[in-house]
Amino acid sequence: MEKGNVFYSIIRFFFVCFVGYFSTLAKAEVKKYQFDIQVKNVSRLCHSKPIVTVNGMFPGPTVYVREGDRLLINVTNHAQYNMSIHWHGLKQYRNGWADGPAYITQCPVQTGHSYTYDFNVTGQRGTLWWHAHIFWLRATVYGAIVIMPKQGVPYPFPQPDFEFNLLLGEWWNDDVEEIVKQGKKLGLPPKMSDAHTINGKPGPLFPCFEKHTYAIQVEQGKTYLLRIINAALNDELFFAIAGHNMTVVEVDAVYTKPFSTEAILIAPGQTTNVLIRANQLPSRYFMAARPFMDAPISIDNKTATAILQYKGIPNTVTPMLPQLPSLNDTSFALKYNNKIRSLNSPNFPANVPLKVDRHLFYTIGLGMNPCPTCLNGTQLAASLNNITFIMPKVGLLQAHYFNLKGVFTTDFPDRPPKPFNYTGAPLTANLRTTQGNHPRLSKIEFNSTVELILQDTNLLSVESHPFHLHGYNFFVVGTGVGNFDPKKDPAKFNLIDPPERNTVGVPTGGWTAIRFRADNPGVWFMHCHLELHTSWGLKTAFVVEDGPGDK
Ligand SMILES: *[C@@H]1O[C@H](CO)[C@@H](O)[C@H](O)[C@H]1NC(C)=O
Ligand SMILES: *[C@@H]1O[C@H](CO)[C@@H](O)[C@H](O)[C@H]1NC(C)=O
Ligand SMILES: *[C@@H]1O[C@H](CO)[C@@H](O)[C@H](O)[C@H]1NC(C)=O
Ligand SMILES: *[C@@H]1O[C@H](CO)[C@@H](O)[C@H](O)[C@H]1NC(C)=O
Ligand SMILES: *[C@@H]1O[C@H](CO)[C@@H](O)[C@H](O)[C@H]1NC(C)=O
Ligand SMILES: *[C@@H]1O[C@H](CO)[C@@H](O)[C@H](O)[C@H]1NC(C)=O
Ligand SMILES: *[C@@H]1O[C@H](CO)[C@@H](O)[C@H](O)[C@H]1NC(C)=O
Ligand SMILES: *[C@@H]1O[C@H](CO)[C@@H](O)[C@H](O)[C@H]1NC(C)=O
Ligand SMILES: *[C@@H]1O[C@H](CO)[C@@H](O)[C@H](O)[C@H]1NC(C)=O
Ligand SMILES: *[C@@H]1O[C@H](CO)[C@@H](O)[C@H](O)[C@H]1NC(C)=O
Ligand SMILES: *[C@@H]1O[C@H](CO)[C@@H](O)[C@H](O)[C@H]1NC(C)=O
Repeated sequence: MEKGNVFYSIIRFFFVCFVGYFSTLAKAEVKKYQFDIQVKNVSRLCHSKPIVTVNGMFPGPTVYVREGDRLLINVTNHAQYNMSIHWHGLKQYRNGWADGPAYITQCPVQTGHSYTYDFNVTGQRGTLWWHAHIFWLRATVYGAIVIMPKQGVPYPFPQPDFEFNLLLGEWWNDDVEEIVKQGKKLGLPPKMSDAHTINGKPGPLFPCFEKHTYAIQVEQGKTYLLRIINAALNDELFFAIAGHNMTVVEVDAVYTKPFSTEAILIAPGQTTNVLIRANQLPSRYFMAARPFMDAPISIDNKTATAILQYKGIPNTVTPMLPQLPSLNDTSFALKYNNKIRSLNSPNFPANVPLKVDRHLFYTIGLGMNPCPTCLNGTQLAASLNNITFIMPKVGLLQAHYFNLKGVFTTDFPDRPPKPFNYTGAPLTANLRTTQGNHPRLSKIEFNSTVELILQDTNLLSVESHPFHLHGYNFFVVGTGVGNFDPKKDPAKFNLIDPPERNTVGVPTGGWTAIRFRADNPGVWFMHCHLELHTSWGLKTAFVVEDGPGDK
């Protein structure tokens, strides 16, 4: 007994002193990356066309970092396009200068110039990603950000043996910027993508795929962490692996209560970490991604595939396809999103604002503005509270910081001009959105709590919209189909363990309620992460005021 206790004390001493010693040794590091924006020929599908890349890679390099580290990323632009890079989901606390959206927080990096993004990764760990945030260049300029927990801090789920990044993308066989210009001229959506991709490769369901299939090798009995990122421009995607269920453990770099599922749904901008066990009959299995679209809108419905291959199985074995939910499976989408809950443990609490200082209600609408030179004399547009965002010519953050007059106003309305039956019969008349000549933003008091209801409308058509807020995570406290009911719906809000994210899908013909504490001063972009809608003006920004003593 005595001896045991002494032994135990020695072990304890060793543990406290040495583990303590080593964790003080694990100082925050400075990690440096060089991002050269280069136009490179990357052969895919039946074509070999030059695309805009980072360091000639497609997808671009993975940024590996540990929670607490500082990143210095020098972006040097050798391409003919202006460029800026957004670190999607990084909170950039009091550091909007490194956020990246062109003309919101910076002027773009021009050809021949460099800009160093300098930021600390504080209070976040998990999977995020980076992408171009100007025009549609993110079609090919994107990559993963992997934030490891601090040294010695384990994951709150079984330690995986290995991990892989899976970046889901959308591919055009032509120059995307040319396609977008063409669409703009006609006033119509640009031509649909030609393929979906997994790590830049479409897989064997496409012609000319040859070597363009991504494959991972697994060993029987081992556990794998898959870091899945939706980098597609316009498509929400289902993803599944034949024969294997997945356990969701994290979304948007926030741990979740684990749950098992046969397929996941992931919107552009979102990330999802899943665990899989290689415990099935050793063989080859397809992993597949295909869109979800439950509105009457035609989209690229093609399936991208990659291969999960057990060690020792020859390449001649034909893989089987997973059962993906059907293209329009609304019920799967709603059920799946309802399963996501914050972990809300003592180490990773969900600090949901319980009291709301500012109530906002924004309607999401599509519209048609006159355009005499366009094909039909009209141009498709999109709006929040009937306002189409006008891009400024100088960065809004600069204008705010240096108090430049006439760049923007802070009169963005807290609710739509006229309440109407938002999701009732389709509204096709009087769809004009308000233009103007400068951006209209909303001013938010420092450290106030905000509740924002995003309400889809049937202006032209209902559709699902993944909304992304820069500079913050928010809590998704409620969601529903139809019109938000301010009398009944708040009683059903989840204020205990709602998902905490940076991007949320507002359901087709429905609404989503989010809450956040505005404790990060700056100018923060908020927009639909469907590039088509962003380019039509479905965006705005919050000016979060400085706190006392701030500069
Ligand atoms: C890409 O390939 C095309 C045709 O093979 C060639 O004409 C072009 O010069 C190449 N461009 C670059 C940037 O290497
Ligand atoms: C960024 O890279 C460019 C090109 O290599 C170089 O000229 C410049 O000095 C670098 N900037 C910094 C801050 O390291
Ligand atoms: C690139 O950015 C500069 C600075 O904002 C701007 O003057 C120029 O027109 C832009 N070029 C293109 C091709 O958009
Ligand atoms: C990052 O952290 C370092 C060390 O604490 C600090 O000196 C620096 O100002 C921080 N940078 C930003 C952008 O907050
Ligand atoms: C996957 O989950 C479903 C539903 O819970 C279950 O019926 C099925 O047996 C599971 N498949 C595997 C391979 O575990
Ligand atoms: C995909 O779209 C094409 C073209 O619109 C259509 O012919 C085809 O039936 C669709 N496939 C599925 C599975 O919906
Ligand atoms: C979904 O699509 C299928 C096949 O196109 C169709 O038969 C079905 O009616 C659609 N379901 C809904 C709910 O729209
Ligand atoms: C606009 O033109 C396209 C192509 O000609 C056509 O398919 C579409 O129906 C037209 N839309 C309207 C609203 O007139
Ligand atoms: C809104 O429109 C829907 C569908 O047309 C209808 O069922 C509903 O009663 C309308 N609501 C109100 C408040 O008018
Ligand atoms: C939007 O604003 C325009 C211009 O003020 C107006 O004509 C139109 O009726 C409004 N549309 C809606 C749907 O409120
Ligand atoms: C913001 O408000 C919360 C709640 O009142 C408080 O705990 C926190 O210290 C405040 N933060 C700052 C930076 O003032």
